[in-house]
Amino acid sequence: MENKVYILAIESSCDDTSAAVMENTRLLSNVTASQAVHEAYGGVVPELASRAHQQNIIPVVDAALKRAGVDKSQLSAVAFTRGPGLLGSLLVGTSFAKGFALSLGLPLIEVNHLQAHVLAHFISEGKSDEHFPSFPFLCLLVSGGNSQIVKVLGYNKMEIIGQTIDDAAGEAFDKCAKVMGLPYPGGPHIDRLAKEGNPNRFTFSKPHITGYDYSFSGLKTSFLYTLRDQLKDNPSFIEENKADLCASLQRTVIEILMDKLKRAAKDLHMREIAVAGGVSANSGLRQAMQDAGKRFGWNVYIPPLGYTTDNAAMVGVTGYFKYLDKDFCAVDAVPFARVGV
Ligand code: KG4
Repeated sequence: MENKVYILAIESSCDDTSAAVMENTRLLSNVTASQAVHEAYGGVVPELASRAHQQNIIPVVDAALKRAGVDKSQLSAVAFTRGPGLLGSLLVGTSFAKGFALSLGLPLIEVNHLQAHVLAHFISEGKSDEHFPSFPFLCLLVSGGNSQIVKVLGYNKMEIIGQTIDDAAGEAFDKCAKVMGLPYPGGPHIDRLAKEGNPNRFTFSKPHITGYDYSFSGLKTSFLYTLRDQLKDNPSFIEENKADLCASLQRTVIEILMDKLKRAAKDLHMREIAVAGGVSANSGLRQAMQDAGKRFGWNVYIPPLGYTTDNAAMVGVTGYFKYLDKDFCAVDAVPFARVGV
């Protein structure tokens, strides 16, 4: 009886080329090559991302297998991110995964990037004090491309109960950072500067939309107009007030995110609450989750920082659960740029 499943996982949806090796849910290695080439452009340039993935993919997979101490002959399957993401970037990981699996006669597993962010909570590092969410749980999924509240009923059963109708939370951070002249991606810079600033110094508009949906475009415009108006009188306004601007913006984003999450948790009587995606690296959001946990008696699950932004470990753990369901895909599976969980 086979009781150990070894999955090679590949993630290439945006600007990180990542490969991981899992033994069941346990992570053996996770190697990521980031792409500094985009910094000069203030955002990810799709064509440059695809080219960098092509350069990185073989060394990254090779390093992941070596670090895991797993020979390719031991692998049970190859999992890859099929989408959503940048099509050219996805094509590199998808094509590599197909070629690799075909040459070894291994089954292929396609993984939805958003589902993978949620299931990052089940990655085991083999420590004795690990806690995993129990079903059903709510997950606030916040990244550069998505802001959703997901009701997670099982490893392969999720329902989006709310999502952004325009910009994602990460996008709001990044776009506001850009107008302040901060490097891309701006989220981590805002987080760092916010620590020194007054979160109540500026007020920006918050959306009024029904249900559990989000909207961040009004906040972005309100931030932009504040800068435009203040810069008329004082050209050094941004430089002189950067920390307060960052702290006030971060407070507003967190309030918007947490208000809907709290409402959903209350309405659905849920106490198992998780956060995932790149923006879950934000120190203010992590603190707000802990505070809400204490206040409302939630069991809060916050991923280790390494599993918040794009990584192949989350693709590997999702691949493992799909492997157990024998949910394999055909070799003609094509990447997709957009879609929900
Ligand atoms: O999940 P992710 O790596 O990529 C997507 O799948 O979108 O998320 C990237 C996003 C970017 O918008 C980045 O600015 C944001 O996550 N981010 C942060 C922080 N770290 C990353 N936003 C706020 N605070 C952070 N510390």
